Amino acid sequence: TEPLRVAIAGLGTVGAGVIKLLDANGALIARRAGRKIEIVAVSARDRAKDRGVDITRFDWVDDTGGLARHERADVVVELIGGSDGPALTLARETLKQGRHFVTANKAMIAHHGLELARAAETTNAALKFEAAVAGGIPVIKGLREGAAANEIGRVYGVLNGTCNFILSKMESEGRDFGDVLAEAQALGYAEADPGFDIDGVDAAHKLAILASLAFGTRPAFDQVAITGIREVIAADIAEAASLGYRLRLVGVAEANGTGLFQRVHPHLVPLDHPLAHVAGSLNAVVAEGNFVGRLFFEGAGAGDGPTASAVVADLIDIARGEFGPAFAMPADALAAEAGADTGDR
Ligand code: HSE
Repeated sequence: TEPLRVAIAGLGTVGAGVIKLLDANGALIARRAGRKIEIVAVSARDRAKDRGVDITRFDWVDDTGGLARHERADVVVELIGGSDGPALTLARETLKQGRHFVTANKAMIAHHGLELARAAETTNAALKFEAAVAGGIPVIKGLREGAAANEIGRVYGVLNGTCNFILSKMESEGRDFGDVLAEAQALGYAEADPGFDIDGVDAAHKLAILASLAFGTRPAFDQVAITGIREVIAADIAEAASLGYRLRLVGVAEANGTGLFQRVHPHLVPLDHPLAHVAGSLNAVVAEGNFVGRLFFEGAGAGDGPTASAVVADLIDIARGEFGPAFAMPADALAAEAGADTGDR
């Protein structure tokens, strides 16, 4: 059998993580996928940077967009980020070529998911984004496949590790907001622009994607009401604690008779709820299905290992030929539902 040949755009921590993971677990992955997964080409800003992995064995492509037409790549993995710009150009071009596309880019999927899903279906290519939401937690597969038989009433969770880390440390160590944010940045959890984390935008990107999968709607980032944690002070946290609650940034998407409601804001979470015990930079997602009941997913939402694990899981699906529509249903059906079911915010 031919290997699945992969081109990677973007060699930050996640890109280097994907290379390390395939180096470490390549043999076991080949057995599970039924064929080898082989990186053939890479592209990044700086070729010489030390990433702790040898990239000289891959073709180096100067112009990232060129990966879409690389003669040997069956699939392009996009780890550049940004809702528009080079990532979006690469996605459009790759799918147009009928090649598969795997991304960790939550902003791009939240803004352009429907368009890209249509492009993928037009050429029978895969569009996969397990790594875009909650890092290593297989929550896209969990909702799209595992809970596919259910009507889902509500999906919610702790979707931003940086905010959870800040709020946890402020509470347990009495530390200052800015001081803990700097630590989260140093640990590599925070976005390049940490405003995306603390203003709730990153959580809203992820919520829009989860809501789409849970409710069979197009991802509608523009309809998420967002409040971040910038204004939270130590006294708020102490007050919440004295009442038996923890302050957490929670994203909630709920379907009721009148539409779909999506919001991200600081919540008071009662101590007897599992979301109150999501530690440090971890993420958690809860989904309530009418036959399965309450599902609770928890794990690392950021970091090279967990995020690479999700990227490679998507590559394994593609290697096995196991991929259907990107979202809960074919893109044309999603488009037809848009308007009716995406709420009124
Ligand atoms: N900045 C994100 C977070 C990284 O803190 O959760 C993963 O998307």
